[in-house]
Amino acid sequence: MEHPELIKQMAAPLLAWYDREARVLPWRENTDPYRVWVSEIMLQQTRVEAVLPYYERFLAAFPTLQALAAAPEEQLLKLWEGLGYYSRARNLQKAAREALERFGGLPGTVKELSSLPGIGAYTAGAVASIAFSQPVPAVDGNVLRVLARLTDSRDDVLSPAVKREAERCVAAAIPRERPGDFNQAIMDLGATVCLPNGAPRCEDCPLSAICLGRARGTAAQLPVKAKKKERRVEEQTVLVLLDGEGRAALEKRPPKGLLAGMWQLPLLPGHAGEETTRAALESRGLAVKSLEPLGEASHIFTHVEWRMTGWLARVDGGGGFTWAAPEELEERYALPSAFRAYRGACF
Ligand code: ADE
Repeated sequence: MEHPELIKQMAAPLLAWYDREARVLPWRENTDPYRVWVSEIMLQQTRVEAVLPYYERFLAAFPTLQALAAAPEEQLLKLWEGLGYYSRARNLQKAAREALERFGGLPGTVKELSSLPGIGAYTAGAVASIAFSQPVPAVDGNVLRVLARLTDSRDDVLSPAVKREAERCVAAAIPRERPGDFNQAIMDLGATVCLPNGAPRCEDCPLSAICLGRARGTAAQLPVKAKKKERRVEEQTVLVLLDGEGRAALEKRPPKGLLAGMWQLPLLPGHAGEETTRAALESRGLAVKSLEPLGEASHIFTHVEWRMTGWLARVDGGGGFTWAAPEELEERYALPSAFRAYRGACF
């Protein structure tokens, strides 16, 4: 970062803009640490619009740290259904229990917050600054983009060293009276004006007068991201198995790895054809009464993409599966979005 002074200069125009343009968001109604923390966990890797409906429902179900700590895991995962990265929900509960036990509530420093499950540097900084007015940075990918453009930096924003440097610069620039607003103002600027993918709206930016990326015409090309590892592609066959009472077969995924411990529709590796599918079902002791193709679908995770094909089989129950009636599938079991394309065949 060659021009740290620009990050200090941005505070006044940025806060004046935030006073006019801050997005009205439910977690900004007050600075209750629990509400702020839940919002920051939900917002990890997830857009504001996607979080909004989940946030209200989650807080209605678990209005306090105590309520979250005591929640049944199934209800917790059900409320998270479709939001993805389910370890966030489990860590949220682990952290609630640990915070109550170790601190009697959510702690207010970055060090203590970071010692809890699911809370990294960014989230600790966001909670400490927004809920506890600590003058600490909260630097995520959006903030890095704003800073890279402001200072016309070609540094690789995916490098941990570059992020640490950005955190140092932000820490030195945070106005002591308004740390939470300062951090959230940068987030809002990144989300509504300093947009990603080459689309900054510099005409509407409160920092355009001091922005080097704008002055030099480089803003749309920034930030620089060194190439990431490619996503691995896996083929899967999704089985919608219905028994005589219209219940669908579910199974639990292994406790480690992708979608750890979540419920899923049964899977076969690869793209299984009719004969392979029938043989696999029979080998599990299921008598197959009918078998129809459900077509193809895909789902993108962080490190892997699933290319799926599906089969609908009417069978006798058993086979070591958990059999869920339609209303149980609606109300009780959380089925990850990866199965969205096949879920409709379960009813
Ligand atoms: N993204 C992450 N945290 C946020 C917040 N507090 N407000 C808006 N967007 C965010």
